[in-house]
Amino acid sequence: MKDPVRIAITGGAGQISYSLIFRIAAGDMLGPDQPVILQLLEIPQAMEAMNGVVMEVNDCAYPLVRDIVATDDANVAFKDADYALLVGSRPRGPGMERKDLLEANAAIFSVQGKALNDSASNDVRVLVVGNPANTNALIASCNAPDLDAGQFTAMTRLDHNRALTQLAQKTGKHVTDVDSMIVWGNHSATQYPDISQCQVDGKPALDLVERDWYENDFIPTVQQRGAAIIKARGASSAASAASAAIDHMRDWALGCDGIVSMSIPSDGSYGIEEGIIYSYPVRCKGGSYEIVQGFELDAFSKERMQATEKELREERTAVEHLLG
Ligand code: NAD
Ligand code: LMR
Repeated sequence: MKDPVRIAITGGAGQISYSLIFRIAAGDMLGPDQPVILQLLEIPQAMEAMNGVVMEVNDCAYPLVRDIVATDDANVAFKDADYALLVGSRPRGPGMERKDLLEANAAIFSVQGKALNDSASNDVRVLVVGNPANTNALIASCNAPDLDAGQFTAMTRLDHNRALTQLAQKTGKHVTDVDSMIVWGNHSATQYPDISQCQVDGKPALDLVERDWYENDFIPTVQQRGAAIIKARGASSAASAASAAIDHMRDWALGCDGIVSMSIPSDGSYGIEEGIIYSYPVRCKGGSYEIVQGFELDAFSKERMQATEKELREERTAVEHLLG
């Protein structure tokens, strides 16, 4: 057995965490040979509910769980954390866009960025799930000057997984037959789920589907999937979000075959402004990720990529006062 690692999860009493914590405790994120110490953060009003979650985790008698810390102090939750999943924040309701949450949620991420800087392991890997995830990750990163910006990522893996399923169902294949799906940009309605580089069972995806389906059905369906779930469930996605968070962290930590989408600090690749947290195609290996270079992109793709970049630049301007 390996030495235990410390995993901080914020919003421990929330609906995403109610799926996430149990799957991490079962070994789905870091493997069946990796013991974990769970460090859960909540606001004071939700501590009682989170203590109930802790009771349930204990009642599972998970072999991998070595300790559980439940706290309303960010510095305690992030103490020596090797992984931090920043979930705790308000979800949107019907009729809202995710960026409408900036005002309510942005301050959380400046406080937590500072606490990560002061208390977490120097190698901490951070995933921001709370919306608007990309700009919240930028805020956290800018408030953690001693950590590398590349340690801060945001979640577009749920969009990536949604796109895989839509394309697999349309072509009568399985998600495991689809290679090189890409989600570019923001976790928002401007994101660009791009199948122009995709192969399905070895054949170019664009040869298998009608252009009209791609532009007028596939892209809007993936862009609007979060809103469709809110409408159907009366609450935003939770189990699928937790599953995507596990996929993101597992692949980052342990590596994976093929290309996945991660929102990471732009280094200027594909002409995107440096510094914003933008979803790129990446390969994960040996505990790190690398942007996949060299895709040839047509005018349609470039226009979509720039539209979502523009939204991220606007969100950054709106929170300039929190960027340190
Ligand atoms: P929820 O309301 O069920 O839970 C959020 C929890 O966070 C609550 O228990 C709340 O008390 C806690 N919280 C609030 N402020 C906090 C703080 N400062 N520190 C610690 N905890 C705090 O919401 P949810 O459904 O679990 O969603 C959480 C967030 O994840 C929302 O912003 C939602 O929009 C977002 N989300 C993102 C994705 C994605 O793909 N990136 C997917 C689904 C949901
Ligand atoms: C999602 O994509 O399901 C989440 O970001 C929740 C939302 O507000 O859509």
